[in-house]
Amino acid sequence: MRATGTVHSAYAIGTVDGRIYGSFIEHLGRAVYTGIYEPEHSTADVNGMRRDVIDLVRELDVPVVRYPGGNFVSAYNWEDGIGPREKRPVRLDLAWHSAESNQVGIHEFADWAEAAGTEMMLAVNLGSRGLDAARSFLEYVNHPGGSYWSDLRRENGREAPWGVKIWCLGNEMDGPWQIGQKTADEYGRLAFETAKAMRAFDPSIELVVCGSSSPRMPTYPDWEATVLDYTYDTVDYISLHLYFDYDTGNTADFLAESARLDDYIGTVAGVIAYTKAKKRSQKDVYISFDEWNVWYHSREADKAVLAGKSGWPHAPALLEDIYTFEDALLVGCMINTFIRRSDVVKIACLAQLVNVIAPIMTVPGGEAWRQTTFYPFLFASRYGRGRALKLAIDVPGYATSFAKNVPYLDVSVVETETDGALTFFIVNRHQTEAIELDIAVEGFGTRRIIFDQVIEGHDLKATNGPHGETVAPKDAVGSSVSDGRLKATVSPLSYRIIRLG
Ligand code: AHR
Repeated sequence: MRATGTVHSAYAIGTVDGRIYGSFIEHLGRAVYTGIYEPEHSTADVNGMRRDVIDLVRELDVPVVRYPGGNFVSAYNWEDGIGPREKRPVRLDLAWHSAESNQVGIHEFADWAEAAGTEMMLAVNLGSRGLDAARSFLEYVNHPGGSYWSDLRRENGREAPWGVKIWCLGNEMDGPWQIGQKTADEYGRLAFETAKAMRAFDPSIELVVCGSSSPRMPTYPDWEATVLDYTYDTVDYISLHLYFDYDTGNTADFLAESARLDDYIGTVAGVIAYTKAKKRSQKDVYISFDEWNVWYHSREADKAVLAGKSGWPHAPALLEDIYTFEDALLVGCMINTFIRRSDVVKIACLAQLVNVIAPIMTVPGGEAWRQTTFYPFLFASRYGRGRALKLAIDVPGYATSFAKNVPYLDVSVVETETDGALTFFIVNRHQTEAIELDIAVEGFGTRRIIFDQVIEGHDLKATNGPHGETVAPKDAVGSSVSDGRLKATVSPLSYRIIRLG
């Protein structure tokens, strides 16, 4: 099978916003406790944060991390997590049927973010609380001093404000599982008023309003139209979430799921354009895809805790999906979709970062290790920042029940900003056939291959673990550039990254 195409330096999609390589830490399961925070761990720093985990987060180069939830935020009192630790209350977290010790709050998380080299993206509680708690949290976090909340922050040991730029107006407010679920009209009004108050404090912050928590919601896409009707002029992003499971039970359909992601982005981009026109607005609103991943392996195991059969455990193992090679291929396709839609998707958060549907796992008191999905994310985060290029490619495809023509080869191309290299991120969805790639590379001068790695040849259900990485990249062979054409044989069911310097 052949795939022929052209990439030309004059034809760009736009600049990839590095924040599409963001992630997410929620007070859920072992993401925080025994994930990022484990004071007894041999690598713990002075704040009790695991240095081995920080090193892996730094390796991934995550520019922004959303916090503290997720469903958790919809019944969270941010004040519970400040002040002397011994005085912090233990609360019952209704979202995950767990006990929350509040030993980690905004101060500890901010210190962790600094150590991990990332920015915080904070969510306010618009479920059980509202505008008032949101504005005091913002004042606590971002005001220099001389007011009640900012002076309290200083008393609690942090002199300078953190200056957090991105704020999420609640989480998945359309979901019946959400504490304080709202109709689109209820939420639209509340989000507007909260945004107005937060902007009165600081017009330069960036605000994210909740879109649908999935395209499977019955309220989608009316929800987006209604919510944006209320908030278009006061927000910067609309948030989308999507997780894939193994509904249809076959690899071809599973690897095609990114087509749904593409449709979802396209539809919401259309709703944004419609609202902009309706309001005769000059302003643009973009998409913050602040939860995305594969999520299904742990659903059965989690049922007992979520049904309350385990009481109210502190930091139980929840959502601990162990990812397969197959999952890594789909994650590669999802990231390619974000790159190709980088004209409208400006923020995306892989949900989540540690232990909870995460690329990084930890053993309490033991190792931190990389899941299979770590690698496509790593490569894109490292080499996928710069100019996303249009690729005209002719490649055979296949049909599924939800998409008419899913190309066997999924490719995105970025001219990397740091070194000007041209990076091809490639997934071959074909289960048995190698694909002969032949791309005309035009307008980039003389190029040669400087990096070529592949993840291939594994059992689709192969996983990594604390004591070894079965699924990891290795050097690829056989690619070439001559007469301005990149040629490579892309093996069946593989993830490939080729960089031309
Ligand atoms: O990431 C896990 C959960 O998925 C989040 O808490 C919620 O926002 C979504 O439903």
